[in-house]
Amino acid sequence: TSGGSDAMKRRAGESAAETIEDGDVVGLGTGSTAAHAIRALGERVDAGVEIRGVATSFASRELAIEERIPLVDLDEVTGPDAAGVDVAIDGADQVAAGDLIKGGGGAHAREKLVDSTADRFVVVADPSKETAVLDRPVPVEVLASARGVVADAVRAADGEATLRRAERKDGPVVTDNGNLLLDCAFGTIPDPGTLVTTLAETPGVLEHGLFVGLADEVHVGTADGVRVLEP
Ligand code: A5P
Repeated sequence: TSGGSDAMKRRAGESAAETIEDGDVVGLGTGSTAAHAIRALGERVDAGVEIRGVATSFASRELAIEERIPLVDLDEVTGPDAAGVDVAIDGADQVAAGDLIKGGGGAHAREKLVDSTADRFVVVADPSKETAVLDRPVPVEVLASARGVVADAVRAADGEATLRRAERKDGPVVTDNGNLLLDCAFGTIPDPGTLVTTLAETPGVLEHGLFVGLADEVHVGTADGVRVLEP
């Protein structure tokens, strides 16, 4: 996806993977930067580190299988007396002071489920993702029948909703969960917390791509190293 070099993304992914400890249950994020972390985790598994992964998408599951990372479902590690998710590593489309816009790959619903339940949520990014104020369209996963209702609610909140369409098919993108995506442009989002409330209160919205106050660490890969921020 957008900008940043692959080497920067790789540095961020490797840096996050280095923080994983033997025995950890690890949330496996989606996207090209998280993919670098998954590959680095695969190398640690090859070296004998015992981890279990929780996939956030079809794509991250596929890559984890390729990397021979043992997988568990989220419901196997949550609930009373369960291990829980120790760390989640995930990318972002935009980062402002630790608040994120995610869902460029349409995976944000399961990403938020896994990332928010983790004891530690580590974001991996390159400098092109950093901004002072969030201003990208917010991906919103909706029930197919709620498409018009949600678009109206977005308009009432001074936004504009666009149905995400597939590139290799005539028709919409359908998420891993069988739903549609509306990319909702609001211009700059100086107060993401308020927008979170508006979107969360709209019937038919299954999940939106604003991740506010969830990140514990942001690892930004640069030309010559990694910057670690703790928002
Ligand atoms: C997936 O839906 C997104 O939330 C990704 O985490 C995001 O698009 C980051 O992807 P890249 O690392 O490829 O930019």
